[in-house]
Amino acid sequence: MMTFQQQVAEGIPAQLPAVKPYPADANRAPKRKDILTKAEKQLAVRNALRYFPADWHAELAVEFARELNDFGRIYMYRFKPDYAIKARPISDYPAKCQQAAAIMLMIDNNLDPAVAQHPEELITYGGNGAVFQNWAQYRLTMKYLSEMAADQTLHMYSGHPMGLFPSSIEAPRVVVTNGMMIPNYSKPDDWERFNALGVTQYGQMTAGSFMYIGPQGIVHGTTITVMNAFRKVLPKGESPKGKIFLTAGLGGMSGAQPKAGNIANCITVCAEVNPKAATKRHQQGWVDELIDNLPTLITRVKQAQAEQEVVSIAYIGNVVDVWEAFDEHGIFVHLGSDQTSLHNPWSGGYYPVGVSYDEANRLIREEPELFKAKVQETLKRHAAIVNKHTAKGTYFFDYGNAFLLEASRAGGDVMAQNGIDFKYPSYVQDILGPMCFDYGFGPFRWVCTSGNAADLDKTDAIAAEVLKRLMAQAPAEIQQQMQDNITWILDAKQNKLVVGSQARILYADAEGRAEIAQAFNEAIARGEIGPVVLGRDHHDVSGTDSPFRETSNIYDGSRFTADMAIHNVIGDSFRGATWVSIHNGGGVGWGEVMNGGFGMLLDGSAEASNRLKSMLFFDVNNGIARRSWARNQEADFAIRREMARTPKLQVTLANRVDDELLNQLPF
Ligand SMILES: NC(=O)c1ccc[n+]([C@@H]2O[C@H](COP(=O)([O-])OP(=O)(O)OC[C@H]3O[C@@H](n4cnc5c(N)ncnc54)[C@H](O)[C@@H]3O)[C@@H](O)[C@H]2O)c1
Repeated sequence: MMTFQQQVAEGIPAQLPAVKPYPADANRAPKRKDILTKAEKQLAVRNALRYFPADWHAELAVEFARELNDFGRIYMYRFKPDYAIKARPISDYPAKCQQAAAIMLMIDNNLDPAVAQHPEELITYGGNGAVFQNWAQYRLTMKYLSEMAADQTLHMYSGHPMGLFPSSIEAPRVVVTNGMMIPNYSKPDDWERFNALGVTQYGQMTAGSFMYIGPQGIVHGTTITVMNAFRKVLPKGESPKGKIFLTAGLGGMSGAQPKAGNIANCITVCAEVNPKAATKRHQQGWVDELIDNLPTLITRVKQAQAEQEVVSIAYIGNVVDVWEAFDEHGIFVHLGSDQTSLHNPWSGGYYPVGVSYDEANRLIREEPELFKAKVQETLKRHAAIVNKHTAKGTYFFDYGNAFLLEASRAGGDVMAQNGIDFKYPSYVQDILGPMCFDYGFGPFRWVCTSGNAADLDKTDAIAAEVLKRLMAQAPAEIQQQMQDNITWILDAKQNKLVVGSQARILYADAEGRAEIAQAFNEAIARGEIGPVVLGRDHHDVSGTDSPFRETSNIYDGSRFTADMAIHNVIGDSFRGATWVSIHNGGGVGWGEVMNGGFGMLLDGSAEASNRLKSMLFFDVNNGIARRSWARNQEADFAIRREMARTPKLQVTLANRVDDELLNQLPF
């Protein structure tokens, strides 16, 4: 029996492994579209076989053809290693440099069955967020990492490890690209085709960059959003108690909404068409109550309003029915949103009203055109009823799920009068953009690589200490954000957010991130904690160019460009990142976004201290500079403050133009 270390270092095994039964309890990825021609299917199998010696080809060719026919992809199931895949303590990994071991730990966390959505298919979240395309890529990558010297770099093309190249100690150990397409080949069906061929993958944001930390990341972002949305609509100081937040989706990420609503102190009503998803969230304690009929829902909600309760209620059914029933019964909705998966509208991301869940699933498989027509009709009806509520004063925002985009494409009444913008803001336009991103606040995270919960406790305490110190000198503009994050970190342990690796998230600005990281590095040097991996969600100040989400509050026309995300990864890579990644896809869909990120190992050394200062500074201020150039007032404030602190930072500032002058021009 080989040890874990020997198996990791083995790569493609010397003997053809036996076929494995599919684990009975695994959540299998949906069958993908059958899109390839016969010649392309042959090419897909030829591509897959290049990982293996020729004398295995006859047997594997038949097996891979079957996988392609049955599931639309070749996952190479039999090559999945026999050891349990999960984040182990960093010292367990066979490696010649600690940075490589840290990356192995992060990869394994993304594929841990307790963390990943479809672990057998190497999918971490979002239905298609892949770490690798197949198990051969996983094995080879782990082998390369186990052999990597501190002056080599592994270049990874959409899960495929192209190889180890000589570089330098200062260079990143791994460079990851996912789904980088020639722009004209970046439509959803191009993903289906080229992913089936085995030449590209959908990395989502933190799946293909090895930075996923389970549901904690999304709970935090959703809490920040709901809390700030209430602050926006309520008179200063008024509590959200007894006020309604109506939304939909209790899936992978949307399932965070009720928990966030409870932390924000409101009544959350969250519709979910899939009874299994709703029941699972209820059993996990993420939503307080389950109701499956409208009369009971109406009575219960009126009671919760009367008693000013903080409660979250899952309604099993279609969200459009809830909006319509609330209108009919005069229930006022303070906040409205939606987190159905409209980045994937035609294959189960969004369910039509008036059709049972099972019947809708049959239509997807057997009558896709009819299903599409029903989705479009529902989107129009959905938009119409939201409009009715907002006319009465509801604040509705798009939650980054492409609701407004798809409703507009379906002909729903969601366009503003100018015919260009939407009637409603996205959560970034009104909330996260001006309140967080433009000031540099974003989802900074870290992982304690020792695997010890005690290390996480110590890092929580260090982070709280640093934030309190910084808050004492912070300007009024960012006091609220600082306070929210201090509260978050103080409560984090009792909220039991860890799933998988010992990870934590909090929103911090450039100064906060660097100061926290520096304090961690010093604690590591003193031997108080083990090495720490730093990272962040790609959904951040600088990481993501996404015109309908992260950069939807950019109004100078540049939101359809992706220069910021590209500068982000290139700039981070030569300032000390341990790995960098850039992806096409992310939460809003293939071809709709470019997002970049990094990982950085802190090992307590002086070099780590230099790297964190240089890289974290650029990683945040790149985005603030761009946001300020786009004339965002909060970013202008933040970048001027940073320039006053940092003499070597010189950013081109935008001059303001008088509207009158433009109005007089002869156009
Ligand atoms: N802005 C953000 O920070 C952010 C965060 C998380 C997710 N998102 C976006 O939100 C969407 C949801 O993500 P997810 O991981 O939860 O996806 P998911 O597919 O796991 O969950 C969506 C759920 O919506 C349900 N649903 C679909 N149509 C419905 C309808 N008409 N009525 C009621 N329920 C319906 C589905 O059954 C499913 O369970 C994605 O598009 C994602 O990109 C944005």
